[in-house]
Amino acid sequence: LITCLFAWEALDSRGKPTVGCEVALAGGGRGTTTVPSGASTGRHEARELRDGDARYGGNGVSRAVANVTGEIADAVRGLDATDQRQLDTTLRTLDGTADLGRLGSNAVLAVSVAAARAAADARRVSLYEAIAEPGTTPLLPLPMINIISGGAHAGRALDVQDFLAVPLGATAFAQAISWASRVRAGTADILAERGLPVALVADEGGLGPVLPSNRTALDMLVQGIERAGLRPGDDVGIAIDIAATQFQQEDGSYRLAAEDRELTSAALVEELADWCAGYPIVSLEDALAEDDWDGWSLASRRLAGRQLLGDDLFVTDLDRLGRGINQGVANAVLVKPNQTGTLDAARTVVRSAHAAGYGTVLSARSGETEDDWLADLAVGWRTGQIKVGSTTRSERTAKWNRLLRIEAELGSRAEYAGAQALAFAKH
Ligand code: PGA
Ligand code: ZN
Repeated sequence: LITCLFAWEALDSRGKPTVGCEVALAGGGRGTTTVPSGASTGRHEARELRDGDARYGGNGVSRAVANVTGEIADAVRGLDATDQRQLDTTLRTLDGTADLGRLGSNAVLAVSVAAARAAADARRVSLYEAIAEPGTTPLLPLPMINIISGGAHAGRALDVQDFLAVPLGATAFAQAISWASRVRAGTADILAERGLPVALVADEGGLGPVLPSNRTALDMLVQGIERAGLRPGDDVGIAIDIAATQFQQEDGSYRLAAEDRELTSAALVEELADWCAGYPIVSLEDALAEDDWDGWSLASRRLAGRQLLGDDLFVTDLDRLGRGINQGVANAVLVKPNQTGTLDAARTVVRSAHAAGYGTVLSARSGETEDDWLADLAVGWRTGQIKVGSTTRSERTAKWNRLLRIEAELGSRAEYAGAQALAFAKH
């Protein structure tokens, strides 16, 4: 039973305040966490509470922290931390708004995750074991690893936000990470040979070069894979997060600033189809903007045969995912627990996606912390895929390192999802 809640203002990887929380249970279990924060946030996400005063340029979270130790603590004291649904429902009801904006999704998620950790601690099991569905075994996810960054994470030098490596041919998680690390180094070499600076890293640890076009970034990545001694398309595929919401204009058209071009939804889909024809792209995220359902329908037909992943489109929301499933839009969902605010709601989205044959990619945010709970969720919930950034920056490697440790500890019992986890492989 929850006896005590403690919270504080911590910093995320961009130096912006975030909520830290510790939950203590009667009998001794304890769980601590800090929560992440996005930059290219979707309009339909749960709402963080920020102070809006002079401290930290308005980004302080002292009110969210006070909500944890005040109103939330009063409401959850005495609740059973092993009953995540009851706890998360209590938090949602207490907040009373659809987007958790009153108490703050940052406050609510911190309590939800810290309680899960405390419940695992009380049982003396790992978080991934504590949160697993009964009767299931742990599953190490296929990683997609950021190599080149653009968009809101790298000063908008490129329109496309992430160019990622997907180690299709790796047969274990550790091998996948070692290949990704080589691809990053290989791509850095290729860029350096063109005289581009490679010492600076973007928000998610990827390279952030200024390139003349999005296609050039794809070229650099393909050459980087080759430089790593790996075969593009066979050993390593490419995933892209277009994050199209970020460059949609008022009139609905899309502006590729790097190339000074304006495209309709249909033209953007054709452009992406061209990229798919020329490069080994296996997954496209947010190909269209968050409310461009018609464009998304078109993309789902035109780009079929690849994983079409909804991030800003679905915002880890059961209703929006349900609409996508009903309309045959996309075939995979990006799952960011802080988009919905509680672990129980995120888990429900994972279950519902799997029931519909949709793929699931558990995802970090561009503003992260050194906390690693996301890794345990991927393994325990058997999401099959995970995306947490590049192989540099400790807030990224914290998650990879946790997965590496879990795989090593499981030894011969470790099951690795591999390339079959990609959504198109299921149909
Ligand atoms: P965000 O970006 O955390 O800044 O929203 C991550 C993503 O778009 O996948
Ligand atoms: Zn995204």
